[in-house]
Amino acid sequence: MRVEQLTCAIGAELIGINLRDAVHDDALFAAIREALIKHRVLFLRDQDITSTEHAAFARRFGDLEDHPVAPTHEDAPGLVKIYKTPDHPVDRYENCWHTDATWREAPPFGAVLRCVECPPVGGDTMWANMVLAYEKLPEDVKARIADLVASHSIESSFGAAMPRDKRLALKSQFPDAQHPVVRTHPQTAEKILFVNAFTTHFVNYHTRERVRYGQDYNKSGSELLQYLISQACIPEYQVRWRWKKNSVAIWDNRSTQHYAVMDYPPCHRKMDRATIIGDQPY
Ligand code: SIN
Repeated sequence: MRVEQLTCAIGAELIGINLRDAVHDDALFAAIREALIKHRVLFLRDQDITSTEHAAFARRFGDLEDHPVAPTHEDAPGLVKIYKTPDHPVDRYENCWHTDATWREAPPFGAVLRCVECPPVGGDTMWANMVLAYEKLPEDVKARIADLVASHSIESSFGAAMPRDKRLALKSQFPDAQHPVVRTHPQTAEKILFVNAFTTHFVNYHTRERVRYGQDYNKSGSELLQYLISQACIPEYQVRWRWKKNSVAIWDNRSTQHYAVMDYPPCHRKMDRATIIGDQPY
């Protein structure tokens, strides 16, 4: 296996391997896992594998989870279909900087995304390194956010486009989750800036030290949150991947965010995603 780094910040391409082999080859799987921890997102071309092989490879990292809004693949439980078609061009949720499913108590460990069909041009996906985003924050900001906890909501994201009854049902199935604003990577102990498009507010911002008058609470808390969320937009922390049929991306969902660029005209873009269950952030 050859590993070619794609940017100084994040991402590497794995060359000369097939993920089908990594389902049974322990040494190959260990090398992929090590590369994932180092580069945070891995890319491969020409992975002409079946849906079952796709899910079996992803399961080597851990059990898979479905998505409450996106449909699951008929032939491969654990694979979620993220399909855009000219008939349904508006069901697009991925074009914001986000870490998958932080509205869960235990957000995913990571994901394995395979391109089934893509537009001739456009529809790239971008990833950002949120360890680097934390490292580069000004020291005074790091001190301000050290003990903050934030709330993450499926209701205000996927739910916002639903009628009220469906939105409330979704919220009662997935109540808002609270996570530290700076989480620790369970494998490397790195600090990670952990707020994204699913984050609605800080739950413990209102203290005597931070808030002189009640009126300071909303503005200074939400400005700080928006500033933190905007860090993923900094190009120096990013990599951008152009899809072809059978290209694959594998990412560490704990230390990254991603953004699926919606710049293509109404046409088919079909992606299968295996999402690996993660741990509760600390
Ligand atoms: C996702 O947001 O997990 C999907 C990314 C993509 O479709 O490129």
